[in-house]
Amino acid sequence: MERTKFSLSEKPLEAYDGDLLVYCVYQPKKGRLRCEHKAVSMLINRSRAGEEFKGKEGEQLLIYPAMMTGKVALGARRLLIIGLGKKEKESDRNLRRESWRKVGGLAAKAAAKLKAADLAVQVGNDPKLSGRELTECLTEGILLGDYRFLKYKKMSKKDKPFGGIETVRFICSKVTTSLRKGLKSGENGAQAACTARNMANEPGNGWTAADFAAHGRKLAKRTGLKCRVLNRSDMVRLGMGGILAVNQGSEEPPKLVILEYRPSKKAETLLFVGKGLTFDSGGVSLKPAAGMEDMKYDMCGGAAALSVMEAVAAEKPGVGVVAIIPATDNMGGRAAVKPGDIISHYNKLTSEVINTDAEGRLILADALAYGIKRFKPSCVVDLATLTGAVIIGLGHHHSGLLSNNQVLVERLIKAGKRCGEPLWQLPLGPDYSKQLESRVADVKNTGGRAAGTITAACYLEKFVGDTPWAHLDIAGTAWNFTDKSYVPKGPSGTGVRTLLELVRGWKKGGL
Ligand code: BES
Ligand code: MN
Ligand code: ZN
Repeated sequence: MERTKFSLSEKPLEAYDGDLLVYCVYQPKKGRLRCEHKAVSMLINRSRAGEEFKGKEGEQLLIYPAMMTGKVALGARRLLIIGLGKKEKESDRNLRRESWRKVGGLAAKAAAKLKAADLAVQVGNDPKLSGRELTECLTEGILLGDYRFLKYKKMSKKDKPFGGIETVRFICSKVTTSLRKGLKSGENGAQAACTARNMANEPGNGWTAADFAAHGRKLAKRTGLKCRVLNRSDMVRLGMGGILAVNQGSEEPPKLVILEYRPSKKAETLLFVGKGLTFDSGGVSLKPAAGMEDMKYDMCGGAAALSVMEAVAAEKPGVGVVAIIPATDNMGGRAAVKPGDIISHYNKLTSEVINTDAEGRLILADALAYGIKRFKPSCVVDLATLTGAVIIGLGHHHSGLLSNNQVLVERLIKAGKRCGEPLWQLPLGPDYSKQLESRVADVKNTGGRAAGTITAACYLEKFVGDTPWAHLDIAGTAWNFTDKSYVPKGPSGTGVRTLLELVRGWKKGGL
C-alpha cells in the first residue's frame, strides 16, 4: 500500500471487527498450547488443529471465528494464529528481532492471500525485547512484506489485484510513547527500503540517470535536504574520467546526484556512495544474453544511498549525512570506451580499462574521491552490486564487507545484524592490490578471476586515502535472494536499513 496507516489501540481485541486479526503464540515446552487470551484460546482448542499447529516458528493457523458453533467472543472476520517457536529457545536479541520481522511478513502475506486490507495485530511479548523494539520489527515486517510493484500492470475493474494493506491496528495493553517511537522508526526504515525497491523495479528505460537526479531534487524540496546535481559538463571540468568513460557508449547523459543533510555547521559527516548503474550491458565487453535483464538492478546501491536520505530527513539525527550517486548506464554505443583505453580519474590516477564490464569501480572511484575531497567525512560507506564473484563466495545470505578500518567494520556488522541484513568481511591487502598493476597506466580495472570481489575493492581503496572507508558488495543480496517472508521476489532494498542503523547508532569519533 502506498501509505499504510498504523495505529495503536488499547481496546480489547474482541472489539476489533475488521478483516484479519493476527495473534502470536509461543510453542510450549511440552503439553498443550497455552494462550493468555480466553476467546482466542477457546478458538484454537475448538479448531482441533492438534498436529498441524504446535506453535513452532512460522507455523500458521487460520480460523474463521463465526464458523465455530456456540458463543463466539471475537468480532474479527478471520483470526490468524502465528507460531513463535519456543520462548526459551533463542536468546540472541537480533534473532528475536528478525523473528518478529518475519511474523510481520507472514501477516502481510496472509493479508494479500485473503485480500484483507484491514488488519489488527496483537502486540505480543518477548522476554528479550522491549515493546518498542517489538513494535518496530513488526511494523518493518508488515510494510516490507506487503510491498508490491503494480505500476506497469493493467488494472481492469474485474480482476484488479489486491492493492495492499490499508490499515493496521496494533492492540496493546497500554499505548505508550515508546511503542509509538518503535512504530515510527519501523515505518521510517521500511518506507525508505520500499522507495529503493521502487527505483530498482523500474526497468532500464523507466529509470535513468536523469530519474535519479529528479528524485533527488524532489526529495530535497519535500524535506529541506540540499540537492545538487553534476552534469556531464561539470564532470568534464572536474576531470571525472571514470564516469565519463562508462557513459561514452550511451545516449543518456550521466548525472552525479548529491544529497546533503546537515544538522549544524560543525557536525561531522557520514558519506554514503551508491553505484547507480541503471543498466549494465557490459559495454563493448558485452555480457551474455541470458539473464541480462537483471542488470537493471545494477543501480541498487545508488537506490539505497538515495533512499536512506528519506529516513534521515525524517529522523533528523545529530550527525550529518551526505549521499552521492554516480548514475549512468553501461552501453556499447559507437563512442563506447574500449578494452585497452586509458582513462584518468578525478584524483588524476590513470587506469587501463581491460574489461568494460568492470564499470562499477570506474564510476565509484570518481564519486569516492570527489566526495571525500569535498565533504571531508568522518567515514565513507559505498554500496554496489559490484561483482558476480561475491555470489560465488557468499551466496545470497551475506553482503560482502571490505574496509580499511576495523572499528567501522564492527559498527557495520552490528548494524547489519540488528536489522537483518548480515554482512561478512573479506580481506584486503597489498598481495591482492598487486593483481591490479598495469604495465602502461597507474592501475588496471580488473585483477583476473581470482578473488574478484577483493580486487574490485582494492581498486576502490585507491580513491579513499586515509579516510575510514567500507565497501558493501550487495550483488548477491540486492534482489531475488533468500526466501524471507518480508522480502518478496524482486529487489530487496538491502543496505537502506543498515545505513540507517549506522546513522542512528553513530558515536562520535573513535574510528
Ligand atoms: N554489475 C556487475 C556485477 C554483477 C554480476 C552483479 C552479476 C550482479 C550479478 C559488474 O558490473 C560486473 O559486470 N562485474 C564483473 C567484473 C569483471 C569483469 C572483473 C563480474 O563480476 O563479472
Ligand atoms: Mn559490469
Ligand atoms: Zn555493473
